[in-house]
Amino acid sequence: MKTVSDYQLLLKELSALLEGERDLIANAANVGAFVMENITQLNWVGFYFYKNNELVVGPFQGKVACTRIAIGRGVCGRAFKDNKVYNVPDVHAVSDHIACDTASESELVVPLYLNSVGIGVFDIDSPIKNRFDKDLQDFLEGVANVFISATHFG
Ligand code: SME
Repeated sequence: MKTVSDYQLLLKELSALLEGERDLIANAANVGAFVMENITQLNWVGFYFYKNNELVVGPFQGKVACTRIAIGRGVCGRAFKDNKVYNVPDVHAVSDHIACDTASESELVVPLYLNSVGIGVFDIDSPIKNRFDKDLQDFLEGVANVFISATHFG
């Protein structure tokens, strides 16, 4: 079980890892790997990016996932449309959840926005229910912020 100070240390390590690198694919790939390496009980960590009015899968760790998600559809599409973090303790309780990996039981989706412009979402799945407590949610939102600050979009 990680403490808030463990999470703070990890955010510093992530900032150091991305320092000086602005490339979108490079940073997204390393962010996903960093979270998968350091946080237990996750089965999918990755990105969907906004392109031509839909979300398209980007770098990820985990099983093959659906490639495109319509805006407003699934947890990812809703998080993006509403610009709101969705913390889903039990994905089976959500009617429009899109099941990519049947092992997923809970999910957290952080929308990625820069100066009010939608970039995509950061999506994290767990094979256990209720995986995302407040401290872990704060950490993953922090990860998304580090990624946005470090990366060049466009
Ligand atoms: N569960 C997501 C789809 C993406 S996969 O989890 C990788 C959703 O409902 O939008």
